[in-house]
Amino acid sequence: MRALVVSDLHANAEALKAVMNRIRRKKFDKVVCLGDFVGYGAQPNQVLDTMRTMKAPKLYIRGNHDRVAAGVEDGEGFNHAAKFAALWTRDHLSAPNRHFLQRLPLGPIRFDSLLLCHGSPYDEDEYVFNEAHARNVFDMTDARVILYGHTHLPVIFAMDSHGRLRGASVRGETIVRLDKDHRYLINPGSVGQPRDRNPQASFAMYDSKKMTVQFFRCTYDVEKTQMAIVRAGLPPILAHRLTHGT
Ligand SMILES: [Fe+2]
Repeated sequence: MRALVVSDLHANAEALKAVMNRIRRKKFDKVVCLGDFVGYGAQPNQVLDTMRTMKAPKLYIRGNHDRVAAGVEDGEGFNHAAKFAALWTRDHLSAPNRHFLQRLPLGPIRFDSLLLCHGSPYDEDEYVFNEAHARNVFDMTDARVILYGHTHLPVIFAMDSHGRLRGASVRGETIVRLDKDHRYLINPGSVGQPRDRNPQASFAMYDSKKMTVQFFRCTYDVEKTQMAIVRAGLPPILAHRLTHGT
């Protein structure tokens, strides 16, 4: 299986368009999205239209922003800008996109050797930043490869057969060969709002046969996305964060 893995698109249609261009000639037989299709950004319908109509079979789960934008919850734990954007999104969704968002499954979901979750397998709001967090996640499941999002940081944690754990942030584009005796916890980074001080959209391609995960970064029209946010009347901090990505 070869899967395109995206996460945290955050209603950024320009970033998603750049990702789609980049993968146009690449072969994959699954599309994985680890949640947060919307929220923060001003282009939720464009992003959802693209993701809904992807031709490859889809493995999609919801994220915490999707939950609030879909009306499942009212965003009480959110900061002002995040809540404002989620409620704005709720008011601007087309009917098909609202239904799509409402029906997105809550993670974790399992497929082959993969486990997909937004934050961590049993808490979509949990942030997995470091090796201690990663160890907790490995303890929660016996899945060999766990894909997650939520932190907006591309990273790979590996645990060997002796339980030794190592984590590495992924800088720029790289291909990682996976060891069949190891377990992995992999975050593809964020398409729509990276937080590693690199504004380029981040995503990955996972190949279960070749046992590789390839990380990509691609440039997109950040200014156009920022203009759309400001023009929509969303909090300007959300535009600012795209170029000061932390
Ligand atoms: Fe997110």
